[in-house]
Amino acid sequence: MSLETVVILAAGEGTRMKSSTPKVLHTISGRTLVGHVINAVQELAPKHLRIVVGAGREKVEAHVAEIAPHAVTVFQEKRGGTGHATQLALDGLKPTGTILILAGDTPMLTGASLSQLLEHHHAGGFTASVMTAEHPDPTGYGRIIRGDDESLIRIVEERDADEVQKEIYEVNSGVYAFDAVKLAGAIGKLKNDNSQGELYLTDVIEILRNEGGTIAPVLIEDFIEILGVNDRVQLAESASLLRDRINEDLMRAGVTIVDPLSTWVDSTAKVAQDVILMPGTAITGKTTVASGAVIGPRTTLHDCTVAQSARVLESHCTEAIIGEGANVGPFTFLRPGTKLLAGSKAGAYVEMKNATLGEGSKVPHLSYVGDAVIGEGSNIGAATIFVNYDGVEKHYTVVGDHVRIGSDSMLVAPVTIGDGAYTAAGSVITEDVPAGAMGVGRAKQRNVIGWVLRKRPGTKSAEAASRHSSDEQKG
Ligand code: UD1
Ligand code: CA
Repeated sequence: MSLETVVILAAGEGTRMKSSTPKVLHTISGRTLVGHVINAVQELAPKHLRIVVGAGREKVEAHVAEIAPHAVTVFQEKRGGTGHATQLALDGLKPTGTILILAGDTPMLTGASLSQLLEHHHAGGFTASVMTAEHPDPTGYGRIIRGDDESLIRIVEERDADEVQKEIYEVNSGVYAFDAVKLAGAIGKLKNDNSQGELYLTDVIEILRNEGGTIAPVLIEDFIEILGVNDRVQLAESASLLRDRINEDLMRAGVTIVDPLSTWVDSTAKVAQDVILMPGTAITGKTTVASGAVIGPRTTLHDCTVAQSARVLESHCTEAIIGEGANVGPFTFLRPGTKLLAGSKAGAYVEMKNATLGEGSKVPHLSYVGDAVIGEGSNIGAATIFVNYDGVEKHYTVVGDHVRIGSDSMLVAPVTIGDGAYTAAGSVITEDVPAGAMGVGRAKQRNVIGWVLRKRPGTKSAEAASRHSSDEQKG
């Protein structure tokens, strides 16, 4: 039996989120809620993926088009319940094989559990299988009513449950596998005679059973997987549970995480064996960190590529490439387009943007490097600024190999510093400096002898100066 179709129900308003963003577009661990669900079902490689959208339709459709371009969205204009949403999703779909239906607000579900549900469903040849879990606090969930033979008789929603039913801890996950033909035959028979006046997908279970269908409850071990997100408190809870799950996987794979509670690695990021993550570190987006690298404390890497044995300390980096053995930080800001080649260094209080730093080159302190390429083995003295912006346009600076830029230099772009050249400290470099030359771009120093004694008599400075009766002072 093949998995023909997956339907994700994601049309709800998410009123309890109190947000202008549709609920399923809220993000944890680098993915939207619906993104997590899509990611889990993609492991099953369904032939068709249908997503029912409603609230915030345009935004949700645009997001789905981006992350799952093959998915078809179905519009539910008005909330009519999960049964109604399913009716719309099935419309125009040839019923064949197995159909999996689940909600868009359960980000903790794994592909492994979904596979387990499907395997069980196919092995038993069931009409329907419902993923269930024992929840320590079942409030709000549909309860699983089992018969004497342990088979599933029906699902009762919290609002429609009596006191005895409310005592049941086994809950409906909202994930179901159906024989598509049987589901298509039963879905039209739903009635809205419940407390919400909606069509409940859960009622289709009882209908199928009454028609002689076989229904399997598939109890999964870890209730965390089925947690739904309905408000911001649950959003934070799911985020921290997902953080724990990711951190545990990483530690088991050989990553040292000094303080797992303060370390946040997105599910979209990759961290290799023998990386050390120090406290307060976030590895987000599409970041990859190669083995031997040490990251943190208090560092954020977003969409970065970090090569082997690099060291990033107390820094914030976005879309930067950090080469093998490179050193970053502390307090360094690497912006998009920064490329540090092997063994290079972007040190304390350095900001870089759209700039390449060659092999072994160093920008050790207090500098801004924007729109530039720096060759290998060069040193950029403290407090150097690459003056890249004339107020209208950005310009480019080229620094060659083995260059020594003196401290407090202003390199006014467009400008080129040739191989092996030097600049004098405090220079404003507006003209190219040829290879091997020393660029000096500052006023010549002059000393006005005796100025303090004449102009600041009676001050401590004058007193200190007068203790010297050298020629210079008498002037
Ligand atoms: C639903 C189940 C409940 C189960 C719980 C698991 C029903 C009647 N109840 O309750 O048994 O324990 O999920 O989390 O199915 N949606 C639509 N269109 C609608 C209504 C809902 O697309 O008209 C979508 C929502 O966006 C959501 C999902 O369906 O993603 C579930 O709806 P929600 O209102 O959250 O149902 P629950 O009350 O959580
Ligand atoms: Ca829900």
